[in-house]
Amino acid sequence: MSDQAEKLRKIINNLKTRQIVEQLPSEDNHSSTRNCKVITVTSGKGGVGKTNISVNLAINLSKMGYRVVILDADLGLANIDILFGISPHYTLLDVINDDKSIFDILSDGPMNVKFISGGSGVEEMTRLEKWQLEAIIEKMASLDKIADIVIVDTGAGISENVIRFIYAADEVILVTTPEPTAIMDAYALVKTVTKENKDVTIKLLVNRAENIKEALNAINKLCFATDTFLGVKLQQLGYVLYDTNVVKAVKQQEPFILSFPKSLVSRQLNDIAHKLMQADQGTVKKSLGIKGFFRKLTNLKNI
Ligand SMILES: Nc1ncnc2c1ncn2[C@@H]1O[C@H](COP(=O)(O)OP(=O)(O)O)[C@@H](O)[C@H]1O
Ligand SMILES: [Mg+2]
Repeated sequence: MSDQAEKLRKIINNLKTRQIVEQLPSEDNHSSTRNCKVITVTSGKGGVGKTNISVNLAINLSKMGYRVVILDADLGLANIDILFGISPHYTLLDVINDDKSIFDILSDGPMNVKFISGGSGVEEMTRLEKWQLEAIIEKMASLDKIADIVIVDTGAGISENVIRFIYAADEVILVTTPEPTAIMDAYALVKTVTKENKDVTIKLLVNRAENIKEALNAINKLCFATDTFLGVKLQQLGYVLYDTNVVKAVKQQEPFILSFPKSLVSRQLNDIAHKLMQADQGTVKKSLGIKGFFRKLTNLKNI
């Protein structure tokens, strides 16, 4: 612990003495003073397509002109680097334990999408002392200047960390397949999450449905159940059907939206990306930015 504390004191001293040069993209047409929006992608059951959705959505949003960063917060498996076919040199742990800045740990993915591997840093963050966290959050805050959207890809299940990511985000994309077990687990997740906090914005996305009818059935079933039994209205983002192109793209370690841009899944994901951003217009809810996100994540007050 004292070793850890020593390292963090070093970080703070560095923060005080060194001016971190932040590279702002020159051609961006989004205001750099605005906070970025943090979207957590989650599910009740594992293997429903969260990582594929996160990565391809990120690329699609980037094509639409948003500056996107993905945070891989799956503590189990490092997934996104496999899908991107890249291996990051550093993880969030290097920001915590070492003298790395947020820019040191950003990897370049396709189409200008940036990527941060959470590694065990995600878990580590929840164990640090308040003053240590402040120093790290201060570092993370630089992300607000280089990103419009941060997509957080979580692991499956109702672990404490996943719940933290859900509460900390500006909004949540809940992914499920139409299988009854996946729907049950999605329902259980909504129940747990909304018991404490009814304000969470949950957007439902059904993935890997056999056909439109099955997709709509799954959406209706889950929305009806959460509305009737929990009093929670899920927002509907839509669906992505089962497509062998997804499986092919995964094997090629390339996002399907790049390998098969004209495929049905790519078009469906494009619709979802537009719906996701459209829903924003007219809403007054202000994004708390990356600083707000990490404060909430680690339970620090005074947001
Ligand atoms: N729409 C889809 N059509 C076909 N296969 C899919 C689709 N979405 C995901 N998959 C398959 O499901 C597997 C699990 O997806 P992944 O994104 O890793 O899930 P998670 O991150 O939720 O564990 C992938 O390897 C992929 O082959
Ligand atoms: Mg995953």
